[in-house]
Amino acid sequence: MTRRLRLDVIAPDDYVRDVLPHSAALWAGSRSFDEYVDEFRAIASSAFGKRRFRTVGLRIDGALAASCKRYERTLRCGDRTYKAAGIGAVFTPDDLRGRGYATAMLGAFLDAERDAGTDLAYLFSDIHPSFYERLGFVTLPSRTITLRADSLPGRRLTVTALGEADASAVRRLFDTFDTRRPYAFARTPLDWEWQRLRATSREHAGQPVHLGVRHGRSLTAYVTGRRVPSADSFVLDEFAYANPDEADLIPALLRAAAGDLRTIRAWLPPTIAREALPRGAVRPRTTALSMLVPLSASFRAAFNANPPDRNDAADPCWSTDHI
Ligand SMILES: CC(C)(COP(=O)(O)OP(=O)(O)OC[C@H]1O[C@@H](n2cnc3c(N)ncnc32)[C@H](O)[C@@H]1OP(=O)(O)O)[C@@H](O)C(=O)NCCC(=O)NCCS
Repeated sequence: MTRRLRLDVIAPDDYVRDVLPHSAALWAGSRSFDEYVDEFRAIASSAFGKRRFRTVGLRIDGALAASCKRYERTLRCGDRTYKAAGIGAVFTPDDLRGRGYATAMLGAFLDAERDAGTDLAYLFSDIHPSFYERLGFVTLPSRTITLRADSLPGRRLTVTALGEADASAVRRLFDTFDTRRPYAFARTPLDWEWQRLRATSREHAGQPVHLGVRHGRSLTAYVTGRRVPSADSFVLDEFAYANPDEADLIPALLRAAAGDLRTIRAWLPPTIAREALPRGAVRPRTTALSMLVPLSASFRAAFNANPPDRNDAADPCWSTDHI
């Protein structure tokens, strides 16, 4: 009889000591090492972190041979919800690579999720997707869009910078917009806390921008992203608008967000949102490829009945869902 591998939960202090010094070169981005560590600790110790996030790994003779992050989210498809386990930061130390440790860890991860009744696992691959396809993952449409700011239709708008006081209006608007989509990751209060922590991250260079348009006192549209002058770009994270007839608020808001910057760049937005943008230049992403593997029979049936394909007009999720 074959014995199943068991994953260990890695306590945040152990993860900081055993993994972060090795993974920083890859994933710290524009953060210093201390910022990289502080941001990890802030997520791990948040309410979201305590309930929906942990680090796990495979120990061989006591040493950590492979590790990853586990995020817990809910995927809504129509009226149904599915339990989703997100996998991030799959990592094997340099000197232990090529011995099957990451594959074994992910196999054990998926077995444990299946046993626990999780409906699907998902990740965003920075490496050739064949590594994850061997484990049953399917690659979903994963593209970028680039727009020239001066090609966007203008519309006279009074645009306001949004702050903390607008947080609940932003959430309401996002939720209303999201319910029009056939499927989406749910945003519970815990997910919003996680979003708020990530919005303050210094991982990506640039100046955060949160812009909105109001009718009277109510928020009717917003965009969030970063101005990155060194790339002459506004990098869009996400947007929403209240009235389906007012999708043209979005190009106008994007133009305002870009200001004197030449281009607007983003992951290709998901359905409904994609329709608010002009065609633009759409290209396949080379990193952060969206992948998922159905684990439960009910999710597999739903997924097989309507699998996304490469020619879909929109991508499956916002870049803000990236882990
Ligand atoms: C990717 C990684 C986790 C694999 O760990 P590992 O324990 O060596 O993996 P396994 O031994 O189970 O599998 C090895 C196989 O992984 C695949 N692999 C490794 N790096 C890969 C890459 N960049 N692209 C595609 N496949 C890759 C190869 O097929 C390799 O097989 P080979 O040794 O016959 O060439 C490890 O290389 C790593 O930590 N890389 C840096 C972090 C990273 O990029 N993580 C993935 C983020 S999505």
